[in-house]
This record gives sequence, C-alpha cells and structure tokens, in this order.
Amino acid sequence: MPNTIIVGAQWGDEGKGKIVDYLTESSDIIVRAQGGNNAGHTVIHDDQKYILHLIPSGILWPEKKCVIGNGVVIDPVSLIEEFKKLEKQGIKVSPENLYISDRAHLTMPYHRLLDSHRESGLGGQKIGTTGRGIGPTYIDKVERSGIRMADLEDKQFLEARLVEKIAQANTILESADSPPLELHTIIEELESAYSILAPFVRETTSFLHNQIAEGKSLLFEGAQGTYLDIDHGTYPFVTSSSTTAGGACTGSGVSPRAIDNVTAVAKAYTTRVGAGPFVTENAEFSDRMHGMGREFGATTGRKRRCGWFDAVVTGHACRLNGADQLALTNLDGLDGIETIKICTAYRLNGENLTTPPSRVESWKDCEPVYEEHPGWPDQPTAGVADIQSLPENAKSYLNRIDTLCGCPVTLVGVGPDRKETLTRN
Ligand code: GDP
Ligand code: IMO
Ligand code: MG
Repeated sequence: MPNTIIVGAQWGDEGKGKIVDYLTESSDIIVRAQGGNNAGHTVIHDDQKYILHLIPSGILWPEKKCVIGNGVVIDPVSLIEEFKKLEKQGIKVSPENLYISDRAHLTMPYHRLLDSHRESGLGGQKIGTTGRGIGPTYIDKVERSGIRMADLEDKQFLEARLVEKIAQANTILESADSPPLELHTIIEELESAYSILAPFVRETTSFLHNQIAEGKSLLFEGAQGTYLDIDHGTYPFVTSSSTTAGGACTGSGVSPRAIDNVTAVAKAYTTRVGAGPFVTENAEFSDRMHGMGREFGATTGRKRRCGWFDAVVTGHACRLNGADQLALTNLDGLDGIETIKICTAYRLNGENLTTPPSRVESWKDCEPVYEEHPGWPDQPTAGVADIQSLPENAKSYLNRIDTLCGCPVTLVGVGPDRKETLTRN
C-alpha cells in the first residue's frame, strides 16, 4: 500500500485538510510530522465543518489511526481544548485512534508570551506569526533546552528545567511589564494536562515501522506550505519547521525509502496570511475574494492576502518536494472572472527568473511576468460533477498549469466538500 506525503506548495492554507480527508479513505494511518497549532485545516465531512489544529484530519474517520509525530510541537492545553471541541462535534478521540510521540516538544505558556513579545519588538518587520509560540518552542528544541512529552513523567527533571526556563523568560518579559510567570501555576497546568494525555503518549516511530511492515498505508498531513519552510521559504517571513516533504520523514522517523508518493497541494490562485513577499498579490483580487466571504484564516480569522496563480512558486515547490502530482483546490474561486492571470516568471534586474530568489530583499524587487488566460465568466465550475464537464477555458487553464509546473494536476477542487473533488488523468 502506498505511503503518501501531502505538502503545501504555496504559503499554507492550500486546502491540505480537504485533500487529506479525500485520501484518508484509502489510507490506514494519518500522520502529522511538523508544525503545531499554528495550522488550521478545514474539513467539511458529512456536511459538518471541522477545523483541525494539532490532530490529524484522519480523526474524523473512526476506523483510522492518527499519529502526532516527534517533529510536531504540542501545546498540551490547546490539544485538550481540541479534544473537547471535537467531542462536542461527536468525534471520539481516544488512545485507540490517536498516538502522540513521546519525543514531541511542548509549547509552554512562556513560548506564547515570548512569541508576542518578539513580534511587538519587531515593529515594521513583524512576521505576523499566529502567536501560538511556535518559533520559541523550536528555538528551545534546537538549543537543546526544550521539554518533551516524555519529560512529563519525570517530575524532578521537569521542575528543574522549568525553573531555568521561567527565570530566562521572566528576565526577557520584565521589560514588557508582563507579570512574572509562576512555576507552580505552570506545573499544575502541566500535571492536569498530562493526567489526560498520558495514555496517548507512545514511542510512535517503531509503531509506524511496524505498521509499514504489516503493509499499512501512511498518509502524512503536511502543515503550512513550502514557502513557510525554515530553509526554502521567504526567510525570515517563515515558520520554524521543515514544511517541505523531507520534514515528514525527520518528523516521524519514517525513512524516505518508505515513501511512494508526494502530492503537492496548491490553490488555483495564491494566498498568504502574515507578512512577507508575495509577488502576485493583487488588491482588487483580494477584495473580490473577501467580498465573496472567502479567504479568512482558519486559525486566527485574519484576512488572507490574495493574488494570481504563481507558477514560479508552485513549479519550484513541485521540484523541491519531488511532487508526483498536484492537487489544485479552489478552482471555483476563479468563477466569474473575465481574464485570469498566471505569473510565468519574475523580472529581476533585467532578467527573467523561473525559480525564486534566495533573499527576501530580492523577492521584494521581483516584478511578475504575466500571461493572460480567458476565464469562464458565464459557466461556473462550482458544483461540477466530473472533469469532462468543466468549461473548456478551465480545462485549458489546468493544462497550462501542468506545463508550467512540470507536474500533472490530478485532483481538482470545485468546492469545500470532499465530494467536490474531481479526478483528472
Ligand atoms: P489547509 O490549511 O491547507 O488545510 O487549508 P485551510 O483549511 O486553512 O484553507 C483552505 C480553505 O479552502 C478552507 O476554507 C477550505 O474549506 C476551502 N477549500 C478547500 N478546497 C476548496 C475548493 O476546492 N473550493 C472551495 N470553494 N473551497 C475549498
Ligand atoms: P496551515 O497548516 C498559513 C504563517 C503565519 C506567519 C508565519 C509564521 O493551516 O496551512 P508561526 O506562528 O508559524 O510562527 O507564523 O507562518 N503560518 C501559516 N500561514 N497557514 C498555516 O498553516 C500557517 N502556519 C503558520 O501567518 O506568517
Ligand atoms: Mg490552514
């Protein structure tokens, strides 16, 4: 059975949750391997809307198993809130269907405060983070001073580490007139969270190896997107994890040799939430999307910035991730538009680039080179039942994206429901 990595090909929010939900039927285990509760994956499943932050979208399927891998950073309080929210919606989360890695690092209250503190100190250079403490949690991980799930078992270690971390955080936060963090409050919060989480915590890497040996099929649910990757994104306007396909392996302990397929997910246009360069951003197009009630962030509710499809970004993402196929969502978002633009190159210093530059200063100087494509203003794609019934101009738009990205579009989204996914050969 194939093991598949789902990865975002733009700046996140490409519709990964919906595509994961679509592919879950033919998978056994759904794995998150990086990021944290900065993610917001929307799934419309049996006419109900769910927004998943830390828990893999596969949880909506009672017979499937879900894994939060070692590469994920977990805010235990937020995770329990997610359990409760799902339970209210009739979804059972138990140690039978959710396995949490004992190696996953924990996001603490001081990480959230340090995230906001750093952002407010950056003034005009703000990253526009989700404020979930993601960066500071990964800083501690890389600095080798983090606290992992398994550490919650060892009270002595936990207390000693917290004393050190809280003292450091209080020194930094003092300047912001933030009330000092108290050790006992954090310990109590962690103990209470661990009394619920303990049965879920396992050594998930060997569990996944055993499942592979039994012929089970793994689906890796990427979070964020290629251009938020700590190495390959629009640094420093990125998140703090490896959001590209390799992150699925390091963040789960599954070897690259076990991966059979990489599916990159992109919107039929481009969006970005938070600061940073965005070459095809277009104010009129953004207003149109927001006016339609589309493109508001699933985690923070912020308006997403919107623009035309960028083949420089998406094509490079396909190569970077080794994508076998592209899932193109939100084609229906282009319904009603007379002329659609596609960015085929970036103009920088008199040259046409077909791969993005490395430095954010250069990204900002890039001008989009557009080609124009006739739209399908009188024949909506929303609700279309099969690929043959798409308007001819929509079909040629997809053909052009295949060519420009060097990767076939095999799934096409024409609505938020899993059923509104068309297959294309
Ligand atoms: P993710 O973070 O990649 O899972 O994406 P989000 O859930 O943050 O944002 C994607 C948005 O697009 C959500 O509101 C989805 O319900 C919606 N969506 C996904 N695919 C389609 C599609 O093909 N058409 C429409 N209209 N909405 C879609
Ligand atoms: P999903 O999985 C879109 C963005 C933030 C900010 C930058 C850094 O739903 O696609 P962070 O809080 O991670 O330090 O913020 O990354 N960001 C996302 N944008 N979708 C996401 O996740 C994102 N997760 C983080 O807006 O620009
Ligand atoms: Mg999202």
